[in-house]
Amino acid sequence: MATIVVVDDNATNRALLVRVLERDGHRVVEAANGAEALGLIWVEQPDLVLTDVLMPRVDGYALDRALRSWSRTADLPLIFHTATYTSDEVRELAGTHPHRRVLPKPSDLDAITAMVRRLLEGAAGEAPGEPEPDGDNRGHLDLLNAKLLQKVRELELADRERQQLLASVVRAQEEERERIANDIHDDPVQAMTAVAMRLELLGPPTDDPRGRQRHEKLLATVRHAISRLRHLLFELHPAALETDGLAAAIGSYLERLVEDTSLSFVVEDELGREPTTELRAILYRVVQEAVTNVAKHARATTIRVRLREQDGGYLAIVEDDGEGFVVEQVETPPSGHLGLTAMRQRAQLAGGWWQVESEPGSGTTVRTWVPAAAFSERAG
Ligand SMILES: Nc1ncnc2c1ncn2[C@@H]1O[C@H](COP(=O)(O)OP(=O)(O)OP(=O)(O)O)[C@@H](O)[C@H]1O
Ligand SMILES: [Mg+2]
Repeated sequence: MATIVVVDDNATNRALLVRVLERDGHRVVEAANGAEALGLIWVEQPDLVLTDVLMPRVDGYALDRALRSWSRTADLPLIFHTATYTSDEVRELAGTHPHRRVLPKPSDLDAITAMVRRLLEGAAGEAPGEPEPDGDNRGHLDLLNAKLLQKVRELELADRERQQLLASVVRAQEEERERIANDIHDDPVQAMTAVAMRLELLGPPTDDPRGRQRHEKLLATVRHAISRLRHLLFELHPAALETDGLAAAIGSYLERLVEDTSLSFVVEDELGREPTTELRAILYRVVQEAVTNVAKHARATTIRVRLREQDGGYLAIVEDDGEGFVVEQVETPPSGHLGLTAMRQRAQLAGGWWQVESEPGSGTTVRTWVPAAAFSERAG
């Protein structure tokens, strides 16, 4: 049976603690303040002291200092039972001594008896200042909270940096595409156009029917190559995205896409304002990928693209009435099929989401949402 000195200037608190600790099998001696406690401790030689902090005359701090200064009581386990603590005080109280603990007031009775038992049992083996491993030490909680807060701040900072980095990746990618598009326009397209003009100037050989045929075919091939290159230019850098806005650029892309097919399309633009340059690029690329899939796989008759503002961001919906597919089957697509993955990643890049809904026989719907504020902290 352990002897415990309970120190509290409030008689009700004291009575409660006495009852609880006695019920837990301890012998309990009461003191109404630090001075009284010192005399009792000298006589009783207790195994543990449970003390209030704020008391008249000799308070908990003073009691602690006095006990530490005597060799007989220096290692006496002591619990500060207190409603008033700050992190600094707690660190000072509990952090500098292996047998000091802080218990918040009020705390539930089980927490009190558990801490008393633990301190009685294991005090000697613990490292100085090591906080209680469980959550009943409020000082420990304060320290944890401070650390947690610091961690959250660090994470917020890292997230801002990540956003800035991603914004510059999106911008760099679009700039690179624009550069390549300009190069293709200025070099191969110009060269091919010159070839076409020369061929026309040259004209077909008048006296050789097979030569005339060859000339015609050559001219057609060159014109086709120019048209393909212009298409590539458009894919790489839709100038309309900057000049005419998202909906217009998507419209132009769809016009080219459905050329020579039986597909028809509608673009429903409900945007009140244009998204930022980065978001426009992301939404454009996702829609481009989705409508290309429709043309490639769906055997649809109509593509419907809807652009609207929702939940503080932009929502793009691409819907087709084609044959659909089993989404689960392409969730881990075979290598080389990157479209769906690329769409999802682009949306996530902006802190948004992407989802595809499809069923064999009932078409496919792709939804992409990005927050309007994405990348708003622009990198230098
Ligand atoms: N709108 C659609 N209608 C029908 N099937 C679709 C549609 N979109 C995607 N799919 C199916 O999902 C598969 C995966 O699409 P994904 O875009 O990832 O790859 P891909 O189009 O085959 O190749 P990539 O886009 O890399 O050129 C497609 O092969 C196709 O079977
Ligand atoms: Mg695809």
